[in-house]
Amino acid sequence: MTNKIRPEILSWIEESVLPQYDAFDKGHQRDHVRYVISTALELSQHYDVDKEIVAVAAACHDLGLSVCRETHHLESGRIIREMACLKQWFSQDQIETIAQAAEDHRASSKNEPVTIYGKLVAEADRQIIPEVVIRRTIQFGLKNYPEMDKAGHWLRTLEHLEEKYAEGGYLKLWIPESPNAARLEELRRIIRDRDALHKVFENVYKEEMYKDILPKAKALLEGETDSIAGMANLSALIHRTFGFWWTGFYRVVADELVLGPFQGPVACTRIPYGKGVCGTAWKRRETVIVPDVEQFPGHIACSGESRSEIVVPVWRDSEIIAVLDIDSEKPATFDETDKIFLEEMMTSVSKVHNA
Ligand code: SME
Repeated sequence: MTNKIRPEILSWIEESVLPQYDAFDKGHQRDHVRYVISTALELSQHYDVDKEIVAVAAACHDLGLSVCRETHHLESGRIIREMACLKQWFSQDQIETIAQAAEDHRASSKNEPVTIYGKLVAEADRQIIPEVVIRRTIQFGLKNYPEMDKAGHWLRTLEHLEEKYAEGGYLKLWIPESPNAARLEELRRIIRDRDALHKVFENVYKEEMYKDILPKAKALLEGETDSIAGMANLSALIHRTFGFWWTGFYRVVADELVLGPFQGPVACTRIPYGKGVCGTAWKRRETVIVPDVEQFPGHIACSGESRSEIVVPVWRDSEIIAVLDIDSEKPATFDETDKIFLEEMMTSVSKVHNA
């Protein structure tokens, strides 16, 4: 069947259906539904199907979002069955097929779409993007297993990815010609390459942890009038979250840095301006990341265990009032992600004005 789509159906989709998506959330706007329509139509070329049914099912698949997010696929089916205008173009059976395809668009391994139309819409509606799949797996773990440590989350992530996405996993592509086939291949390549996967895991996990503690940090310092109390709590929050070697503050007192609240082994008490990583960050007035402390001239070794370090200035207006110093016993622990989140976190200290 290589039917064309009647112009009146196309203009009805354009003028009456697509504008309804303007009221939905960011992930379900017109660009999303347009992508689903065009992908479903493209995929339908491999099958002997009615293109008008494909187009209308794809166009209406999310309309139920106007009622309830959780059951929106079922609501979409109901809305389609109640659309009087469809009767001028389709038989009762065809309308039923369209409604069923919309209902089936949230297919899972347990609920396979009943017809090819459901499969086309379901496949067009999902995008297996490796980084997104890995991030969602980690987010799911963090939400549902809050007691689990990082090693546990790594194992759980591996297990889930293997079970679902690796060769022989339970994920089914409804349409083998789908663009998801190539993306799934790419994901499988990452899953097979444990080092590559571990790198992605480390980065995503770190970002998720920072996203979790950032609002907590802000809440802890909200309304606080003593910056030392604020620094004390922030060093505990950061240290306990990531299990670093040493996390703490040096405050600017006259012409040197003086040890402030910290977590970890004892450290040197005073650091001159421009000396060590801390004094350098103060002098350069910017965050300094040291991937290998042995390669940093003038590094002050408070502890022989430290391998890498980040120092972030704490500002009050245009003055540096302290620096946050974090040491790791592993090399190259810190990167742009730490810089961005820690700088943002330090703005909450900047707002504290000692009474
Ligand atoms: N390594 C720092 C000194 C402080 S301790 O590491 C806690 C530096 O070079 O400034």
